[in-house]
Amino acid sequence: MVDIPLESLTGGSAPAGPSSSGRTFYLETFGCQMNVHDSEKVAGVLLARGYRPTSDPDRADLVLYNTCSIREKAAQKVFAHLGKYKKAPEQGRAVAVLGCVAEQEGERIFDRAPWVSLVCGSASYRRLPELLDRLEAGQRRVTGLGLDVDETFETEVTRRDHPFRAYVTIIEGCDKRCTFCVVPSTRGPERSRASGPVLAEVARLAAAGYTEVQFLGQTVDSWRDPGPPGLRFSELLLAAAATPGIRRVRFTTSHPRDFGPDIVRAIDDCPVLCEHIHLPVQSGSTRVLERMRRNYTREEYLETIAMIRSSRRPISLTTDIIVGFPGETEEDFALTMDLLDRAGYDGVFAFKYSPRPNTPALEWPDQIPEAEKSRRLALLIDRQRQIQVERNGKLVGSGVEVLVDGRHEARGQWTGRTSGNRVVNFTSPMPDLLGQYAQVRIFQAGPNSLVGEHTR
Ligand code: SAH
Ligand code: F3S
Repeated sequence: MVDIPLESLTGGSAPAGPSSSGRTFYLETFGCQMNVHDSEKVAGVLLARGYRPTSDPDRADLVLYNTCSIREKAAQKVFAHLGKYKKAPEQGRAVAVLGCVAEQEGERIFDRAPWVSLVCGSASYRRLPELLDRLEAGQRRVTGLGLDVDETFETEVTRRDHPFRAYVTIIEGCDKRCTFCVVPSTRGPERSRASGPVLAEVARLAAAGYTEVQFLGQTVDSWRDPGPPGLRFSELLLAAAATPGIRRVRFTTSHPRDFGPDIVRAIDDCPVLCEHIHLPVQSGSTRVLERMRRNYTREEYLETIAMIRSSRRPISLTTDIIVGFPGETEEDFALTMDLLDRAGYDGVFAFKYSPRPNTPALEWPDQIPEAEKSRRLALLIDRQRQIQVERNGKLVGSGVEVLVDGRHEARGQWTGRTSGNRVVNFTSPMPDLLGQYAQVRIFQAGPNSLVGEHTR
């Protein structure tokens, strides 16, 4: 969802592999959680071949960038990084570009950065062992670029970065073809994983000590069980939540078109299902939504929100919004601002429209000037900030349960997330809380986080 660079993968032990023992890899990830999790799988494949991870890109035998092309800035970053490795081939090192920029640019990457030797999109990760064989045999310009796939990338060797929260991909690709979005052309057609392997993975994670799983998909609620028993998405959530040892199940990202009342009923009935829904709206104007090809109107989206708000649990709601989509008028934008007030989001990821290759909106004549996009974005962020201050302020004095996932030494605080995905920083007399569930009383609230103290 956000294009922040994530920490490179380090640590972990590697079984010795035949052809690559002793070699090291450096893998850096950009983009959404799907990419973060893909990198975990790729790292697992490399470890199983005998590669060892390193945090030093200048020394790694294999440097990999798992890339994002959702907005132009994210894609440009990749080329800025690649520039550092011009000498890699003569040093006997290999550079690989994976993910969405790889799929989008394909072999053109070799023209722009001739020192790159592997270009592979996410729909070809299944072929990684074969592609790595060729790379290790000294072949230059190895590619995995086809989108003609009907299977998902499954591997038992996933190297997970987080000790108690685990991602599980349940659906890959996207068929929605929103007119602004590169995903259908970079990740390929929508394909769901069968419930059997998904639930088996959840059981394995629970046995390994994970207590929180997060189901991932570009349109996670479009998931349909391809095999028997033919579960619905809400039934899959309930089945995962029933796995002994699992205390939290999250899912992202939901598409408003496929989001049904059965999902809210499941959350209501089952406390293990987290009380958080990420439901990207993109615009508050039906006219713009039509041009975006989102397949819902403003009114339908508001009805879905009313349905979510009728839940017995205080489900927190977050969204993605694009400002300055081609042809967006002042009136359209006012409708988006008005929707913020009506929806009462707990978090918004807002973006200026960025024209992308292979998307219809790229060609449209009524593009909005950059300065105007920036103006609208600032107004929106400012309004949403006030809304979050108000909403979070209401939590002061309440008690929440937090899965503790970090420690801020300088501030003497622990940090973690609530079931509603709110960040809570808190003090505690306990010496070690990592991975534990703590009851916390909230005494202060900001727009993006809460502050509290451990009660037990
Ligand atoms: N279903 C996906 C959505 C893909 S991208 C998910 O996992 O979230 C995430 C968000 O990026 C989108 O919801 C949209 O708000 C934003 N985005 C996508 N294409 C964009 C573009 N061309 N310009 C600006 N923002 C874009
Ligand atoms: Fe992109 Fe629309 Fe799919 S935003 S990921 S084409 S639902």
